[in-house]
Amino acid sequence: MEVVIKETCEQMSKAAAQEVAKTLNAKPNAVLGLPTGSTPLGLYKELVRMHENEGLDFSQVTTFNLDEYAGLKQDHPQSYHYFMQENLFKHINIPRQNIYIPSGTTDNYLAFCQWYEQRIRDCGGIDLQVLGIGSDGHIAFNEPTSSLGSRTRIKTLAKQTIDDNARFFKAGEKVPTYAITMGVGTILEAHRIMLLANGEAKAEAVAGAIEGPVTSMNTASALQLHKDVLFFLDRGAAGKLKMTAYYEWIQANLPGAPAGTG
Ligand code: GLP
Repeated sequence: MEVVIKETCEQMSKAAAQEVAKTLNAKPNAVLGLPTGSTPLGLYKELVRMHENEGLDFSQVTTFNLDEYAGLKQDHPQSYHYFMQENLFKHINIPRQNIYIPSGTTDNYLAFCQWYEQRIRDCGGIDLQVLGIGSDGHIAFNEPTSSLGSRTRIKTLAKQTIDDNARFFKAGEKVPTYAITMGVGTILEAHRIMLLANGEAKAEAVAGAIEGPVTSMNTASALQLHKDVLFFLDRGAAGKLKMTAYYEWIQANLPGAPAGTG
């Protein structure tokens, strides 16, 4: 696990964007797993800027989104379909047919979830999975006590998540109770994972994820079982970590390539 701490959310987002760009430059047809929420907005903004100004190419990229609210149509302003279109997809050159987002309106959730898992496998798996984290430690919509082996499925949201996300909905509008979400097990199969977090409100969840025990009470803690995970944090989100000095020491002393490998 690597923990990268930046002073501001903007710096954290730019560092995360560099990592995505590195993946796409090394593998132009990479498969990306993508999150929604306020956290990745800076990352998406920077990727759009890199596409427009530096020619970052998405023409062969495939994406799988983590989750979607059950019951919201694609054009609902709070649907994750709409979010992705507005904040990323309409600004880059990704082919429409390469975009996968769980359907919030399928009439057969079970079949849809199985199909989604199969599509990920058929595309060779996710090369780089980007994640945010909920204030209760959830990744995607894997709420506390979700099985750490869970797969894509319909999930009942926790009251805390509904309350946290109510700020995006109009006054009086009901936040959906259910979502379709990739499971923790699905996420852990990604070849590489990066989790972004900013702000003090995430500090406790982040500390639990990185330094706490592996527990379904904080599903992000399951990332400790993965071989290649990168956390990008701003100072606020890193505020409750105990080993900050060590993470900063590691970043200041990253090993170079072994001699002779060029
Ligand atoms: C939702 C999403 C998660 C996201 C979380 C945090 O619950 N399903 O993928 O990480 O919100 O959102 P925010 O970044 O807005 O704090």
